[in-house]
This record gives sequence, structure tokens and C-alpha cells, in this order.
Amino acid sequence: MSSAPTTLFSPIRIGDIDCANRIFMAPLTRCRATPGGDVPNALMAEYYAQRAGAGLIVSEGTQVLANGKGYMNTPGIYSAEQESGWRLVTNAVHQRGGRIVAQLWHVGAISHPDLQPDGAQPVTATEGFNPGGITRTPRGKVERGPARALSTDEVRSMVGAFRHAAEVARRAGFDGAEIHGANGYLIEQFLRDSSNQRSDAYGGSIDNRIRFALEVVDAVAEVFGASRTGIRLSPVTLANNAKPDSNAQATYGALVEALAARGIAYVHFIEGNTGGARDLTGFDFAWAKKRLGEAGVTYIANNRYDRILAMHTIAHGAADAIAFGVSFLANPDLPERLRRDAPLNPPRPKLFYAPGAEGYTDYPAL
Ligand SMILES: Cc1cc2nc3c(=O)[nH]c(=O)nc-3n(C[C@H](O)[C@H](O)[C@H](O)COP(=O)(O)O)c2cc1C
Repeated sequence: MSSAPTTLFSPIRIGDIDCANRIFMAPLTRCRATPGGDVPNALMAEYYAQRAGAGLIVSEGTQVLANGKGYMNTPGIYSAEQESGWRLVTNAVHQRGGRIVAQLWHVGAISHPDLQPDGAQPVTATEGFNPGGITRTPRGKVERGPARALSTDEVRSMVGAFRHAAEVARRAGFDGAEIHGANGYLIEQFLRDSSNQRSDAYGGSIDNRIRFALEVVDAVAEVFGASRTGIRLSPVTLANNAKPDSNAQATYGALVEALAARGIAYVHFIEGNTGGARDLTGFDFAWAKKRLGEAGVTYIANNRYDRILAMHTIAHGAADAIAFGVSFLANPDLPERLRRDAPLNPPRPKLFYAPGAEGYTDYPAL
């Protein structure tokens, strides 16, 4: 008996999630939630439904707490109103036969008091950590400042906040959850020794620095089951001014081993610098693919894939699925276009984070 070769267009079962193809939609913040309560709405449901042809949609980052927010009008996933809003989105995607997981997000120090409840200081791993850079708040462009360290008890509460968000996501009808452990946000602030100088059980040794991430994984897996829990990692990115870990191979290698042991659904890797060069120096992604594969954990690859690179990568078994960001944003029917080798709509970056339907739901299908 011969079986057909695996291609980008082959179905795949990830944990307990059946995906029609291996062309996934990467998480993309679009800042279209309804202001006030950061509530997902009908426009967002339409946008995601248009993209339901993806094997799997990873939602935009959705903050697990009000103080996890780092940009204006990003949706939350902690209130009853947000749960109802997300229900619109998951229903719309499921009606079109799609699958969608929620990306659970806390930005940590990447926030600003203007975006915090009661103008509070943002929280992070290390007292005074300041990632720098500019962000937009209702006052306009402002510089980020120093964040305050979470106490040990507060770290434990933060794990509880991720658990609560997973419960909201499950009730809202998501097929699973992806923990945002990438791009310089709170979990990555704990992982790297460049942003974690704690002296409690969550800092210092590698085992201590990966502890918060693993406690969050375990909490989310308690809600969804390990077979519907994934995590996104970016071992070598410098996104959001993140500084490299002094030994990314050792730190992220230990994390990959622990994730393999837990048998979660997937690990989603940003290969190289997010949205930038595919320079893989510093971490052995091929090793991670092999190690996770031995444990039955799916390896999702992302970062600047085009049709040819994606097809080769799947054909050679270097990844199990490919997540597309900007090209999915601009092409609601991306899988069909890749199948036919059809031309792609150009993205309109000025409208990535702008309010309204323009540059959001108006990208044409073939
Ligand atoms: C507009 C925009 C918003 C993004 N929002 C998120 C996000 O919410 N969560 C996340 O993990 N990555 C986010 N990213 C990163 C993308 O998921 C992806 O890693 C990046 O665009 C590289 O993939 P690509 O070359 O296929 O676009 C965002 C990228 C863009 C361009």
C-alpha cells in the first residue's frame, strides 16, 4: 500500500484538532475590538470567517487581564462581554468549517500606564525593567518606562489569570489555546536572562526562568487538555527591543524538552527575527523539530514563508505546518491562492492597526 506524499495541502491532526490543510493563519493584532471593554465584535467575526479556509487560525493576541494590554483596542479574554464577543467569532469560523485557537497574551513591560487600569505601572519579571521604545496611547505617541516586578505571589496569580482566560476561551467555543511566549512579552521577559534578574523560584537558573511558562502551560492544559494546548516561542527574535538570552540553545532547549514531556498539541516557532531576517543563529530549530516529533508534538513554523519555501519545508519534513502572517492578512483565501499558484494581494501596512473595515475585511478573494 502506498500513501500519498505529505504536502502543504494535506490535512493534519494536531493533538485533538483536525485541520484541513497545513496553511495556518499566524496571530495578527489588528486593534479592531470595541473600545470601552475591549470587546470582540461582528466586524472581527466577519474578518476571521473570511479566513476560515486556513487549516488553523490562531487569533490575534488577546489579553488575559486588563493590565496585560499593550496597545489600543486589542481584545481581551477575561470578561463576560468579551466571552460573548469571541463567541461571535468562533461561531462564524466554525460555520465555514474552520478551526480557531485563542492566543493568550500578557504584554508585561511592553505596556504603558496610559493603557493600564488606574494608570498603574506595567508589570514584569525584574524591578525597573524598561524595554524602551514608543507606543501609542489615547494621548498620542509616548515613550515606554520602567515596569515593576511581580511578587512571587503575584506570579502565581498571573498563572491563575491565564487559567481563567483559558476557561473563558473554552466557553467562547475556541478549539484550543496558544500561549503567547514570544516577541518580548511577559512570558519571554521571564524566559530570558537579559530581562529576568529575579532571585526567587522564577529567576536565576534555567529551570527557574522556564517555570512561569510551564506553569502557564499546565494551567491552560488543565482547562483545554494538553491535546488542545499550544505555545508560541521566538528563541532568537529581537522583537520589541528584546535582548538575546545569553544561551538561547540551553534555555529554549530545556523548555522544548519540558514541553515534549508534557505532550502538548504544538509548539509554534518564529524562525529568526519576527517579520525580519530568517537568521536562525543561536537556536537549533531542526533539533527542536526532531525532539518534538519524537514526542508527537506538532512543529508549526513561521516567519517570512512564501509558497515555494513552505512547500519545500513540508515536503522535507522540516515542519508540520506553516503559519502565514502578513500574506494571510491581505489574502482571505490564501490556501486557495497557494493551491492555484495565483497572485497575492499586496498588504496595506498603514491600515494594519487602523479602525474600521478598510484594510481589514475589504481584501478581495480570487
Ligand atoms: C500586523 C501584525 C500583527 C501581529 N500581531 C501578532 C500577535 O498578536 N501575536 C503574535 O504572536 N505575533 C504577531 N505578529 C507576528 C506575526 O504573527 C508573524 O510572526 C510575522 O508577521 C512573521 O510572519 P510573516 O512573515 O508570515 O508575516 C504580528 C505581525 C503583524 C504584521
